[in-house]
Amino acid sequence: MAENDMDFLDVAAAHDVDFNPAQPPLVIERGHGVMIMDSDGHEAIDLSDINASVGHCHPRHVAAIQEAAATLITSKGTLPNPPRSRLIQTLVDLTPDNLDKVFLATSGSEVCEWAFRIARRASGRHEVLSFWGGVYGRTYGAMSMNGLVRRKRRFGPLMPGAIYAPYPNCYHCPFGKQVESCGFFCIDYLDLVIDAEGTDDLAALIIEPYLGVGGIVFPPDGYLSRLQAWARERDVIFILDEVQASFGRTGKMFALEWDGIEPDILCVGKGLGGGVSIAAFLAESAITDALVPAELSGGNGGNYLACSAALAVIDIIEKEKLVDNARRIGEFFLAHFRRWQERYSVIGNVRGKGLALAMEFVKDRETKEPLHTVPRQISRAAYARGVYLPATGNILGVRPPLVITAEEAQRSVDVIGEALEEVLG
Ligand SMILES: Cc1ncc(COP(=O)(O)O)c(C=O)c1O
Repeated sequence: MAENDMDFLDVAAAHDVDFNPAQPPLVIERGHGVMIMDSDGHEAIDLSDINASVGHCHPRHVAAIQEAAATLITSKGTLPNPPRSRLIQTLVDLTPDNLDKVFLATSGSEVCEWAFRIARRASGRHEVLSFWGGVYGRTYGAMSMNGLVRRKRRFGPLMPGAIYAPYPNCYHCPFGKQVESCGFFCIDYLDLVIDAEGTDDLAALIIEPYLGVGGIVFPPDGYLSRLQAWARERDVIFILDEVQASFGRTGKMFALEWDGIEPDILCVGKGLGGGVSIAAFLAESAITDALVPAELSGGNGGNYLACSAALAVIDIIEKEKLVDNARRIGEFFLAHFRRWQERYSVIGNVRGKGLALAMEFVKDRETKEPLHTVPRQISRAAYARGVYLPATGNILGVRPPLVITAEEAQRSVDVIGEALEEVLG
């Protein structure tokens, strides 16, 4: 069948296991900067792509990939290659001094999986503490640590040793406390959790600096440094999962900079490759010394092409000052979110840092009962006007490529404002 005759959505519905009928019926054909174009030729500002950190098809990203593809594509096992070594050195230079070892892989799931496996080996203990709403991946161990039922539903039994505690989601504090006066009760509560659920064998904890899939929720300032102190006091390996947060997304190169923390293991991915599959963990050699050489190696980790793409991404972020841009444009969006929250009572909470932002819709500000219909309607109205802003349940998340300009941000808020007006009056 000629490609033009093929209905891509029909093929997806019939044969693509990952097809989601709840998502907008779009076929995305091309992208450039923050713009995407569907198969009807309709263009929209893409406010939702954490992989496309430097935008779609950035010329220097494309050139690096093309040059690599014409040089060497594969990884040749664990042999060094020039971009691989350069990337490893760059990651070590950019991250806290304690992180001196790097493992390159192809997905965030893989590096999170390895992170707590090596934590188990290094500590000689087996339990891992994770947090409600957290998502660490799709492999068996990573899935088992997920704190969201939709990411592990009926795939049990899960990995033994997984323990869960509430994420510091202050808008929905499960203890009914106020952040101004709670004294970080949720950290004290961790002792109750591990005493009740554990076997005095806690190897590690894994936490996201903000819940990505779990609704773009940031912990209160100071939480992560207190959590780090809690982990150190108990000799628990601290794994920070920045797969959705690193490389400028939160308005810092790494989200760990907000609280000045030094995790024992740091997982990064997604935005690192700018859409090309690559992820990494960084760890202290005191931890990785527990491994035998080449024990983790995977089929494609550290390949020439992906490492070249990642080096180009980091170079673009630095040269185009995209971390500052994320902070500046993020504040602009957030100011508008706050104005809309004053005007529309169904916007219960607005939040975020850098270009990881969200509006949460509720039926009632007191009960905070989720309102699912409105975000979907707003999303549709915005797309018709040229802004792609998919809804996830009762959340509208804004996470555009970091290259978004002030003009594109202005156009986006104009469109979202019109969509809100159309749907909410
Ligand atoms: C915070 C976080 N960690 C890890 C992963 C897994 O990454 P990947 O999809 O690259 O396997 C995800 C995926 O969404 C994630 O959000």
